[in-house]
Amino acid sequence: MNGAPTLALAIVISGRGSNMVAIAQACARGQIGARVARVIADRRDAGGLALAQQLGLEVSAVPAREYAGRADFEAALRTTIDASGAQLVVLAGFMRILSPEFTRHYAGRMLNIHPSLLPKYPGLHTHERALAAQEREHGASVHFVTGELDAGPVVLQARVPVLPGDTAESLSARVQQQEHIIYPRAIGWIAAGRLRLTDDGPRFDSRPLQQPMLEGQTT
Ligand code: GAR
Repeated sequence: MNGAPTLALAIVISGRGSNMVAIAQACARGQIGARVARVIADRRDAGGLALAQQLGLEVSAVPAREYAGRADFEAALRTTIDASGAQLVVLAGFMRILSPEFTRHYAGRMLNIHPSLLPKYPGLHTHERALAAQEREHGASVHFVTGELDAGPVVLQARVPVLPGDTAESLSARVQQQEHIIYPRAIGWIAAGRLRLTDDGPRFDSRPLQQPMLEGQTT
């Protein structure tokens, strides 16, 4: 990015970390004006931690089960994030519910990716539930995090078809391919100053974002 200022990211994971890798690669390629300040996992055995180390990234484990309760865990997580100098917190497969106090501290500075077309299917087992409901379309959503689970303003979505014979695994793989495209894209918009959250909701290119943007129909 030729010395241009870059947005420092703290990527917070619980598992495999494929979205973390996609974001780190987009940063490394200079595709987005961001850099990974630190990758943080809430468990020592998160597969993504080893991947992040292989990529040469700074990593920390803040193992939730080693703290007395949620307040202590969140205090440690917040200290680790803030010590990294991160300007944006990127939840990427982070599987814990955060308190309103925690989300308020990062208001407008924390994104999440969720494997459904929100507001459909917040919570867990989204692929199974989409299949059980015989949806013809499913997808993924990038949203700003607020105090209510999976309910913050959605900024970008990708849709995928549900195909005959799909299983939760095949559908999940199709959704994840799209996640790896839309998450770096949304972060890149924030880094470029094109996307931000205001008291009146998200704004894109200085205009109110009335509804989520759709991958394939955006610049
Ligand atoms: C992703 O599909 C993400 O959407 C989902 O977990 C997966 C993590 O994959 N997140 C949630 O379900 C959050 N409630 P990854 O570890 O390979 O990035």
